[in-house]
Amino acid sequence: MKITIIGTGYVGLVTGACLAELGNDVFCLDVDERKIAMLNAGGIPIHEPGLEEVVARNRAAGRLQFSTDIAASVAHGTLQFIAVGTPPDEDGSADLQYVLAAAKSIGRHMTEFKVIVDKSTVPVGTADRVKAAVQAELDARAEGAKFSVVSNPEFLKEGAAVEDFMRPDRIVIGCDSSAEGSRAHGLMKKLYMPFNRNHERTFWMDVRSAEFTKYAANAMLATRISFMNELANLADQVGADIEAVRHGIGSDPRIGHSFLYAGAGYGGSCFPKDVQALERTARQYDQDLLILRAVEAVNDKQKLVLGQKVAKRFGADLSGKHFAVWGLAFKPNTDDMREAPARVLLKQLLDGGATVAVYDPVAMAEAKRVLALDFDAEQLARVRFASSPMDTLTGAEALVIVTEWKAFRSPDFDRIKAALKQAVIFDGRNLFEPQVMAEAGFEYHGIGRSVLTRS
Ligand code: NAD
Ligand code: UDX
Repeated sequence: MKITIIGTGYVGLVTGACLAELGNDVFCLDVDERKIAMLNAGGIPIHEPGLEEVVARNRAAGRLQFSTDIAASVAHGTLQFIAVGTPPDEDGSADLQYVLAAAKSIGRHMTEFKVIVDKSTVPVGTADRVKAAVQAELDARAEGAKFSVVSNPEFLKEGAAVEDFMRPDRIVIGCDSSAEGSRAHGLMKKLYMPFNRNHERTFWMDVRSAEFTKYAANAMLATRISFMNELANLADQVGADIEAVRHGIGSDPRIGHSFLYAGAGYGGSCFPKDVQALERTARQYDQDLLILRAVEAVNDKQKLVLGQKVAKRFGADLSGKHFAVWGLAFKPNTDDMREAPARVLLKQLLDGGATVAVYDPVAMAEAKRVLALDFDAEQLARVRFASSPMDTLTGAEALVIVTEWKAFRSPDFDRIKAALKQAVIFDGRNLFEPQVMAEAGFEYHGIGRSVLTRS
């Protein structure tokens, strides 16, 4: 099938590359000329396991093209995926300017039937706005081409995006019941046929329910995390181990094991903004989503917990003190630092007067870019970008772990102890067993695990 993807970011690039891998003829469009030039030169703008190979293979096969030419892109695909960003507006609601600009571009250039697929995460009712924007452009040119707007939200996780796209738990598609909607239904069914060979994974529904499903999923997952983080902080107070509790409750199939990890708070480009956007949608209908307000507030607080533990141990004035920080990306296997908890921790340490040495296996370049925006020159001068995890340690009062990269899971503890000024570890992802750490001579501060580390 002929497919155009408008917006070649995390979702657009993965969607385009994976659909090409299935044999489709895909055109990826972006307004960012540098990004498209990089892709056309064989580069890849994001770190995502397995993506580079899929992109290279399909470019070589001529099934995947990258362009900034909107007219050619609209002409190419019968299916036009909109995968542009929907960042938070000033009030936290989803900013639809990029989605509506993409819709207008389609309307301005289309001359035959198109299925317009909303892949971006968009508030309920957006498909109607996309439809109106396209129709207004068609009317302005007295062009009678027909189209249908479909909602097909994306559930991939960064760091596992190719795997998630190729082996989805479910595919959610919302179509309307018009003649164009039925035609769109047929084309979407054909497109996703390869995913449904062994068992049907597609959930067909009305457009608004599909739009809502995406927010409901992210809000539920964020709620589980904030719930566990709040319990972890209580566990620290009452002397319980949140990891034991996690196993204890996760084994109940009604609860399940996933997304119950207490830690340094959730980050990334989705949970924080989607929780906010759903709250704002509710407010437009005079509804106050109390649970989601709490989820957001707990997460904001949770991002401060690691820094607070450091301040409790070393004092609020950290001047003259040096800290090692492992993990900058908001989660492992990505270089994405959007809403990363490490940014909050660094702010606390630098505001306290400390110097830091930081390391991340893939996010160092992105960290340099982002931290230059977060901090002034004086604060930045107190950050050293180290060349390895061990290179962060010399002379540090303590090691602070923020992201659970595999490479941090089995370090040489003897070397760590020898390099640190004091054998103290703050672990924002509960990577290690407190008892083992105590036996190895470390003062170990996890999240919600103080029962095992109290002397
Ligand atoms: P991104 O910022 O990585 O990419 C968006 C791209 O769209 C950018 O390259 C930008 O230059 C381009 N763009 C903006 N306006 C354009 C236009 N008019 N024409 C062509 N290109 C344009 O964003 P992302 O992380 O891929 O997210 C895209 C959407 O998918 C968001 O709604 C997000 O909530 C949703 N989503 C993201 C993820 C994720 O893990 N990142 C997962 C599921 C859903
Ligand atoms: C999320 C959704 O999982 C995905 O379905 C959606 O399409 C996009 O948003 P992503 O943000 O890429 O994906 O990563 P995810 O693995 O969900 O992690 C989000 C944040 O939650 C990370 O900061 C992670 O560290 C944190 N997290 C996750 C926890 O703190 N505890 C957990 O148990 C799980």
